[in-house]
Amino acid sequence: MHKEITYEQIKASAEYIKAKGVEQAQVGIILGTGLGKLVDEIDIIAIVDYSDIPNFPVSTVESHKGRLIYGVLGGKKVLAMQGRFHYYEGYSMQQITLPIRVMKLLGVQQLLISNAAGAVNLDYKKGSVMLIDDHINLQPENPLTGSNMNDLGPRFPDMSQPYDKTLNQLLISTANKNNITLHQGVYVAVPGPNLETRAEYRWLRNMGADAVGMSTVPEVIVANHMGLPCAAISVLTDECDPDNLHPVSLKEILDVAAIAEVDLIQLFKQVCEHL
Ligand code: HPA
Repeated sequence: MHKEITYEQIKASAEYIKAKGVEQAQVGIILGTGLGKLVDEIDIIAIVDYSDIPNFPVSTVESHKGRLIYGVLGGKKVLAMQGRFHYYEGYSMQQITLPIRVMKLLGVQQLLISNAAGAVNLDYKKGSVMLIDDHINLQPENPLTGSNMNDLGPRFPDMSQPYDKTLNQLLISTANKNNITLHQGVYVAVPGPNLETRAEYRWLRNMGADAVGMSTVPEVIVANHMGLPCAAISVLTDECDPDNLHPVSLKEILDVAAIAEVDLIQLFKQVCEHL
């Protein structure tokens, strides 16, 4: 699928959101599967449903709420996506990443991303959190395919440091201060929606994966394209041991995400305080 989004459409989405009172967002936040509770910590100024925003796709996954939350977190104006779009839902990469481009037009200066992921590195236990230090993209299509939007960024964006060093350092020091074990590693993005086979987990481990999931990388690509500093944290919801693999259900993933979410909330909230 290759639904192209134009710069005019991105601007129209941004204008609509601005008219709803979202005027000074500094930090963008993406809340992954089972990780919507951070919203309870935000002093909410405005809520905008995705279904009302021109050009926004509508989330098809029940565990994702599908709205923008604008408010104050850690003393900063934040714009949080409660629910994100995934490739497996049938959207194009340009649709999936539209909200990130819109955030940039709305003035967002830093992007904090979260996701639920499987632990491929078996030293990393389920319920723990991992700072994404680098990634490997195994998803088909690329959000930057097509004529380049020169107003947003260059044709061939650099990827030598996709996750911002300063934000990463801030997350690491915040984790240390709070006695949160924050692993670091490589996230591999797969298309999904099926989880992986034993042979695929073995292959992912061999290629250098520490975690695997179905999101984040498209958003990080467009953020880098626009020069928007970003950092991402995986909540590890299951252990992907090819030699001892059990079936996992969405319920188990959500249950574990809810436990680790407490750490994620502390990290994102306190990082906002220090930005
Ligand atoms: N693969 C395996 N386990 C997972 C994933 C995934 O994409 N997401 C959350 N747990």
